[in-house]
Amino acid sequence: MLKSILNTLKFSLKKGNAKILIQKIRRRIFDNSNNVVSPGILNWLNKNAVDFNKFAEDLDPELWNESKAFWHEFKKQAVTKLESLPITLGGPGIYPLLYFIVRYSKPKTVVETGVAAGFSSQAFLKAMSKNGKGKLYSSDYPYFRIKDPEQYIGVLVDAELKNNWELYIKGDSVNLPLIVQDVDQIDIFHYDSDKSYDGRENALEITNSKMASNSLILIDDINDNSHFFDTIQNKNITDYSIFKFKDKYIGMIGRL
Ligand SMILES: C[S@@+](CC[C@H](N)C(=O)[O-])C[C@H]1O[C@@H](n2cnc3c(N)ncnc32)[C@H](O)[C@@H]1O
Repeated sequence: MLKSILNTLKFSLKKGNAKILIQKIRRRIFDNSNNVVSPGILNWLNKNAVDFNKFAEDLDPELWNESKAFWHEFKKQAVTKLESLPITLGGPGIYPLLYFIVRYSKPKTVVETGVAAGFSSQAFLKAMSKNGKGKLYSSDYPYFRIKDPEQYIGVLVDAELKNNWELYIKGDSVNLPLIVQDVDQIDIFHYDSDKSYDGRENALEITNSKMASNSLILIDDINDNSHFFDTIQNKNITDYSIFKFKDKYIGMIGRL
């Protein structure tokens, strides 16, 4: 506990970090919509969810097999690497599907929020490397309760894939406007960082100007609050999919 307080203080003294810390504390205290989801929305998610194995297999069975093989291999390496670290990072995700989506749609530009150990980053970069094109822009900020947290962001990403990777670590509200300035168009936007309603809404607003009619938006943990449901309803979106993975849901806006 004392160690974690000291690390937080040390983190906040570094240039630019106090802003991140204040933002995080403010969200925790004032964002009441965080983690509030009605049984009606959970029911809607459950009713509309499709099996992502079947979804991918129907589109391209061979590519889906390749995606599962990627995940099988990477998972083994990731477990070994993460076990050797003094901290716990990341959680389960729908990584073979992320790899599949990139292999299938061959995007030029992918933007993601939330890196942590880098499961999703590695899935995107590996698929882009296999495609022979594509660049990944990632936004994160360090877990400030641990010592020198920057070194752990994206530890699972292969060194040889980093040429096509731009990593920003000052938090979404700082990083995303910079990323938006840097790219012509966002082909895939994967949101997996600040899980609050406002965090999701702000990120979609910031990136909106670079989304095209055929862009895809993927949002993790849409069962946390009503943000995905509200977006679909308020914008009359008809092209969307919901995938269930273990006890959580991932939303996709757009058509693959
Ligand atoms: C669930 S983890 C991401 C997991 C990652 N996508 C993967 O597949 O391994 C969430 C990450 O988002 C970061 N995060 C939380 N709030 C953020 C914010 N406002 N801006 C940027 N990153 C944030 C956390 O520090 C953490 O690294």
